[in-house]
Amino acid sequence: MPHSSSRLPEAAGERIDYVSEGLSEDELAETPADQFVAWFHDAERTLPEPNAVVLATAGDDGPAARAVLLKDFGGDGFVVYTNYSSRKARSIGENPQVALLFPWHPIFRQVRVRGIAEKVDDATSDAYFASRSRGSQLSAWASAQSEPVGSRQVMDERLAEVESRFAGGDVPRPPFWGGYLIRPFEVEFWAGRHDRFHDRLVYLAVDGRPADLAAAPDWRVERRYP
Ligand SMILES: Cc1cc2nc3c(=O)[nH]c(=O)nc-3n(C[C@H](O)[C@H](O)[C@H](O)COP(=O)(O)O)c2cc1C
Repeated sequence: MPHSSSRLPEAAGERIDYVSEGLSEDELAETPADQFVAWFHDAERTLPEPNAVVLATAGDDGPAARAVLLKDFGGDGFVVYTNYSSRKARSIGENPQVALLFPWHPIFRQVRVRGIAEKVDDATSDAYFASRSRGSQLSAWASAQSEPVGSRQVMDERLAEVESRFAGGDVPRPPFWGGYLIRPFEVEFWAGRHDRFHDRLVYLAVDGRPADLAAAPDWRVERRYP
């Protein structure tokens, strides 16, 4: 507890017992890909934004975490999109080791990923950018993500500038915007159990390097204490 009197006394109380169905070795899928897809579909049925995921980076200036949206998933890994000049992009450039956290606590689950981030190819970023709404496309152009800005008015003026610049035509992908593929070497499935005695089953790439999430022989499973 903090030294001074707590401003959030209700947070200290154990009000909710995290009871899910748990997760056993028997029911765990053969591959992390299948397990993730199964849990993602469960999350989709219950949660408003199941693809909102916390991305943690550890650049030269220390760790930082922020929510991003998962936009693609396959055997290679997890794909998210962002500004390549943002703070997170700078951190990834300094240290490509990242972590992801899917915080699905309303269903007493979380998925934790550790892996290596790399830029996706331009064609992939182009295709995704083209699928976005025009408004989002223009915002991407107008935002020097992570940089200080004096006021909302400055932002609105910048948006108006890009609106007139691209008026009447398609909005191309900004060269400073695109995707990252996070290629995991560790994927943990966490399921809440009675009295905080939770289940944690972790897929670990056998050679410690990012591996194909859909290839069972590339992974071993470890149970960890909660
Ligand atoms: C639910 C949610 C989804 C978000 N999705 C994205 C996203 O997909 N890409 C992105 O760059 N920022 C996204 N953001 C904003 C980031 O959390 C963050 O503010 C921004 O990327 C700047 O982070 P940085 O300065 O650490 O680079 C999202 C925020 C929230 C709350």
